[in-house]
Amino acid sequence: MFYSVQVDQFLQQFMVSDQAVMDLSLRFRREMDKGLCRDTNPTAAVKMLPTFVRSTPDGTEQGEFLSLDLGGSNFRVLLVRVKADGEQKVEMENKIYAIPEHIMRGCGSGLFDHVVDCLANFMEMKGIKNKKLPLGFTFSFPCLQTQLDESVLLSWTKGFKLSGVEGKDVVSLLRAAIKKRGDFDIDVVAVVNDTVGTMMTCGYEDQYCEIGLIVGTGTNACYMEQMRNLDLLDGDEGRMCVNTEWGAFGDDGALEDIRTNIDQEIDSGSLNPGKQLFEKMVSGMYQGELVRLILVKMARQRQLFQGRTTPELLTTGHFSTKAESLASAEKVLRGLGLEPSLEDCICTRRVCQIVSTRAARLCAATLVAILRQIRDNKAAEKLRTTIGVDGSVYKNHPEFSRRLNKLVRRLVPDCDVRFLQSQDGSGKGAAMVTAVAHRLAAQQRE
Ligand code: GLC
Repeated sequence: MFYSVQVDQFLQQFMVSDQAVMDLSLRFRREMDKGLCRDTNPTAAVKMLPTFVRSTPDGTEQGEFLSLDLGGSNFRVLLVRVKADGEQKVEMENKIYAIPEHIMRGCGSGLFDHVVDCLANFMEMKGIKNKKLPLGFTFSFPCLQTQLDESVLLSWTKGFKLSGVEGKDVVSLLRAAIKKRGDFDIDVVAVVNDTVGTMMTCGYEDQYCEIGLIVGTGTNACYMEQMRNLDLLDGDEGRMCVNTEWGAFGDDGALEDIRTNIDQEIDSGSLNPGKQLFEKMVSGMYQGELVRLILVKMARQRQLFQGRTTPELLTTGHFSTKAESLASAEKVLRGLGLEPSLEDCICTRRVCQIVSTRAARLCAATLVAILRQIRDNKAAEKLRTTIGVDGSVYKNHPEFSRRLNKLVRRLVPDCDVRFLQSQDGSGKGAAMVTAVAHRLAAQQRE
């Protein structure tokens, strides 16, 4: 057929063979080691950040907790009630609040004031403004944690870029904004990454859960690491959850052999050029844009739309990689003011498939490295483990999860892997971390 030769030749550069996936996986495993080791950590691209979460839930947690979830596609405030009366039970109420664009790109104090105003509004609505409840803060950005409630932002990622927050402890900023408002009080107990929240939420349901994975606006994973491998901290006993921040894989040049011109173009037009290069090949915030740029390039080379483009096609925006059927490809293209031929639709569908397949395969490579690390840590012949997953790409894309799950299982046949989708995992998880901290504190007092 018309498109297959020229188009597939062009798209070849986006294909990642099994061999390349295995090779990437080994490379990522070395990056993990580099991040874990005290001497090499300062120059490591993949930061392997300690989270101070040392235990997954055991089901005996209980209480009433607030949580804030900032950094995904929505900002939410949650009220989570955990009951431990025989049957584990978590009840949750939540409200989504908008974060206007000018706040996302403004100054940090504006963001924290807004967050605290939303929290106050939520507490008023629920009639709990006079209670000093424990609060968990899901803050889904790379942070250097020194304890559960102290977390210094290393750099903004995804669509956020605010002045005056990088290098600061976000818990202090939150507490200061609460104090400034002055009409309620809160006990900020924990800050967690969304991957950690997801792992903890799934861990409440499935005791084997020791990995948290997000493929949404951004992408990242955390897992339970042995303290003896966590060179950055003292102590050799037990485990601690490590936030890998794998989105930064490649920021030191390690992915140059697979990055294409289009990947470079995405990066240079982004809010954080040179940063989060792996994330820019995998996550939802960039997949649609990758497809759009490929279509523009092909149109310019007269391989598509008879060489025509439209202002909409040329505008940065939300092209969806969900266009993996002919009907949806046609709908998306017509929405961009194009009059596609059948071949144009077939080709667009192919581009979407290739971009999202590449994302799934890259994600499998890094996930397999984590699975091998856990298996080696346990010296287990056969590892049984659960991965808690959240994120819009994993949950909503028609094919992504199937491709990822299948490839991971094929590449690590000696691991029995369960993928468990979390329901509102990231926010609920912050409450779970807070609940576990409460349980441990109570045990210590006994
Ligand atoms: C970005 C953030 C990371 C987060 C991920 C998923 O990669 O840096 O902290 O976990 O997005 O939201």
